[in-house]
Amino acid sequence: MTTRRDFLRATAGAGAGAAFGIVPSAGLGASAAVHLGRVTPVAVGSGNGRAACARAIEVVQQGGDTLDAVIQGVNIVERDPNDTSVGYGGLPNLDGVVQLDSSVMHGPTRGAGAVASLEGVKTPSLVARDVMRYTNHVLLVGPGAKEFAKSMGYPMENLLTEESRRRWVEWRARLSDRDDYLTPEQSIHGATGFRSEASYGDGLLDSHDGVRPQGTINCNVINANGDLSGVTTTSGLAWKIPGRVGDSPIVGAGLYVDNDVGAAGSTGRGESVIKTVGGHTVVEMMRNGMSPTDACLEALRRIVTFTVEPHLLDEEGRPNFGVNYYAVNKNGEFGGAAIFAGARFAVSVDGDTRLEDSAYLFQRN
Ligand code: GLY
Repeated sequence: MTTRRDFLRATAGAGAGAAFGIVPSAGLGASAAVHLGRVTPVAVGSGNGRAACARAIEVVQQGGDTLDAVIQGVNIVERDPNDTSVGYGGLPNLDGVVQLDSSVMHGPTRGAGAVASLEGVKTPSLVARDVMRYTNHVLLVGPGAKEFAKSMGYPMENLLTEESRRRWVEWRARLSDRDDYLTPEQSIHGATGFRSEASYGDGLLDSHDGVRPQGTINCNVINANGDLSGVTTTSGLAWKIPGRVGDSPIVGAGLYVDNDVGAAGSTGRGESVIKTVGGHTVVEMMRNGMSPTDACLEALRRIVTFTVEPHLLDEEGRPNFGVNYYAVNKNGEFGGAAIFAGARFAVSVDGDTRLEDSAYLFQRN
């Protein structure tokens, strides 16, 4: 009988692709699955993740764990009331309730944890890590996730800031002119607006459908030993149907880490990433030898192929929404790509933290 130990020993050194019976495709360049030794630590993630990537690198440089590193990074944004795409201050659902999604993967221990539709906790990434560490499960949702978080000692807090509440109230009033909510323009009673400053869209949010903002943060890191971890965290699609879950907490969609190959995560229209198992697709492309950038582009092409609904297509038959992928391979090579030109991703490497232009499939009209 072949034991697990026999299996791993027999396949050690043969490359991770061989371990899983996958032969790198011809013509795709050197296999990223072959680990070349010491690696320059790199953190890569979404454009709103500059501070997160910088923090992640700081933690791994100090010898910290890779998952602790990326979580400490995204916690900065989760706790920031001024970021309306993630955690505290995230834009709420249809009913004005903030529901958060997050997943984490720890490469060295092959661990995964996630929460979806979690209410009342500013840092869903930490709860996702606790699901991984302290349960026999991978994903907890809704009231179950909340009860679990309470049991682990997280304080229950109101996540709706004055700004996110005002934006929800304004959206509700503008939804229809046949309901009983009045916009300031419709009111004859001296209403002066729902907010004093008009600053919709801060450039960090993708638009799901050209109308509703959607933002997410993804951060992946590799340390000098070549160990990888990743996290994705979001408040999801603004004004979503209560209970809607996007790609961020779905292991294999909004995030995937294989410590033999690399890590990848996504932001943008989650439904499209789920249908094409985006994060996993990017990692499998890297396993087969693609560079991180090419792997991200290939996974985006799948989204284009899978997008056939007329309401999701522009006049040229292209997706009318955004998706971005971010990836780092076992050698510390990294990349990012988006459906449309103009996106950027964050990277921290060699003491420098910056935004780089993402590769893309299409120019915007
Ligand atoms: N990508 C985040 C979401 O769709 O919820």
